[in-house]
Amino acid sequence: MAPALHDKAAAAVLPEEISIDSCGIEPDLEGADAIGKLRGEREIVLGRNLHDQCFSITEPEHDDEETGEKDVYMAGVLARYRKTLVERTKYHLGYPYNLDFDYGALSQLQHFSINNLGDPFIESNYGVHSRQFEVGVLDWFARLWELEKNEYWGYITNCGTEGNLHGLLVGREVFPDGILYASKDSHYSVFKAGRMYRMEVVKVDTLLSGEIDCADFQRRLLENQDKPAIVNVNIGTTVKGAVDDLDGVIRTLEDCGFSQDRFYIHCDGALFGLMMPFVKRAPKVSFKKPIGSVSVSGHKFVGCPMPCGIQITRIEHINTLSRNVEYLASRDATIMGSRNGHAPLFLWYTLNRKGYRGFKKEVEKCLANAHYLAGCLRESGFGAMLNELSSTVVFERPQDEAFVRKWQLACQGKIAHAVVMPSVTVDKLKVFLKELIESRSRLFPDGKIVAPCVADELGAKNCACVKHSSCS
Ligand SMILES: Cc1ncc(COP(=O)(O)O)c(C=O)c1O
Repeated sequence: MAPALHDKAAAAVLPEEISIDSCGIEPDLEGADAIGKLRGEREIVLGRNLHDQCFSITEPEHDDEETGEKDVYMAGVLARYRKTLVERTKYHLGYPYNLDFDYGALSQLQHFSINNLGDPFIESNYGVHSRQFEVGVLDWFARLWELEKNEYWGYITNCGTEGNLHGLLVGREVFPDGILYASKDSHYSVFKAGRMYRMEVVKVDTLLSGEIDCADFQRRLLENQDKPAIVNVNIGTTVKGAVDDLDGVIRTLEDCGFSQDRFYIHCDGALFGLMMPFVKRAPKVSFKKPIGSVSVSGHKFVGCPMPCGIQITRIEHINTLSRNVEYLASRDATIMGSRNGHAPLFLWYTLNRKGYRGFKKEVEKCLANAHYLAGCLRESGFGAMLNELSSTVVFERPQDEAFVRKWQLACQGKIAHAVVMPSVTVDKLKVFLKELIESRSRLFPDGKIVAPCVADELGAKNCACVKHSSCS
C-alpha cells in the first residue's frame, strides 16, 4: 500500500508534476520518487507535516460554562498563536505579501456575514452585501487599465488564481477550440486551468530573465496556425519577477497571421499588476490594446489581511458566460458561489487612503530597496539577479534550511528569492543580510567561501562561483 504523505512529509521528495499541490491526491512516494529519478527531474523538499501539532477540538465539559476553564484554555491558545503571528510577520521575505496595514477602522464590520454571491452589478436577495464597495473598487481598476465603465465587467475574486481561472475560462468560451499558450515560468494556476478545462496547452520557452521568449512563441504559433490562440501574459512571473513583453506578444501574434478575432490575451498581473502602471519603461497594460482580461491579487502589493483579487474583462465577453439564477435574483458569471464580502471593504479602504499617488510612492520605494538588496548581495559574494522592472531579488539558495524557514524564502532548485514589498524596510533587509552572511560563514569555518554556480539560472554575469566571478 502507498504510504500516506504525512508519514514522510519532512523528508518527502516528489517530482513536481505529481506533488500533492498539483493534484490533491496523496501520491505513492516511492513510486513517484522512482518516476522522478527516471525522468531525471529535480527533487522537491516539502514542508514539515503539522498534523501532530494541530489544536484539536475537544468536546465541552458539562460544567465549562460555570468553571470558565474552556474559555481560559482557548484564550491561551489564541494568545500564543497571536505571538507566533507577530514573530512570523517580522521574518518574512519570500512571498509577495505586503504585511504593513492598519484596518482598525473596519473591525466594527467583523460582526456581519457579508456575502456578495452572484453578479457584483446586480443586487441579489441576500441583503448583507458590500456591492457598493465592490463596484467602486472595480471602477478604480478599470480606470487604471483604461476601460470605460460601460465597457467592462469584473468582480472581486478570492485570489490571483481565481482571476487566472476566470480569465482563461472567458478565453476558452470565446474560442472553444483555442490552444492555451503560456511561458514555462507562468504560475502553476495557469496550467491548472488548462487541466481543469481540458485545453490543449503549449508551454513556451523563456529568456534567462524569465520573460516569454517571443521567438519560441512564434515557432509554436506557426505550428498551430489553424487554431485560435489563448495566451497567458505574465505581468511579473512568480519566481524571477519577469514581465512579459505584452507588445512583443501582440506583434508576434499579428506577424503569424492571427488577426484580433483569432486570439485572446489574459494578463496575469497577480504579482505586479498594480505596480507596473507606476514603473517608467514598463510595458503598459491597457485595454486600449487587444487584451481580453487582467487579474491581480489583492493581498499582495495592495496589502489585505485575507487572500483576494480583482478580475476585469470586457463586458461583451461576459455575456456568453453569464446565466440568470432565479434563486439569487442575480446573474452568475463568477467561478465561486458565495463571495467574500469583507474583501471589497478592505480594498476600498486602502485604495481610498493611498490613491494612485500613494501606490506610486510605494512602488518607487520597493524598487529602490530591491536594488539595495541586490547590490548588497553581490558585494557580499552571493550570486544575485534583479530584473529591471521588478522588486523580486533572485539569489543563490541559502544552504542552511533553518535560515530558509526562518525567513520564509520561496526556493526553486538552486535559487531563492526575496520579494521587496512595502512592508520590507531597509532595516529589515540589513538584519536579513547580516544573518545570511553569518549562516554562510558557519558552513565555511575556514573562511574559504565557495559560492555555488547559478549561471544557468541567473546568467554568468550574476553568478558568484569561482569560474564565473573571475570572468566578470
Ligand atoms: C504570477 C502569479 N500568478 C498567479 C499567482 C496566484 O496568486 P494567488 O496566490 O493570489 O492565488 C501568483 C502567486 O504568487 C503569481 O506569482
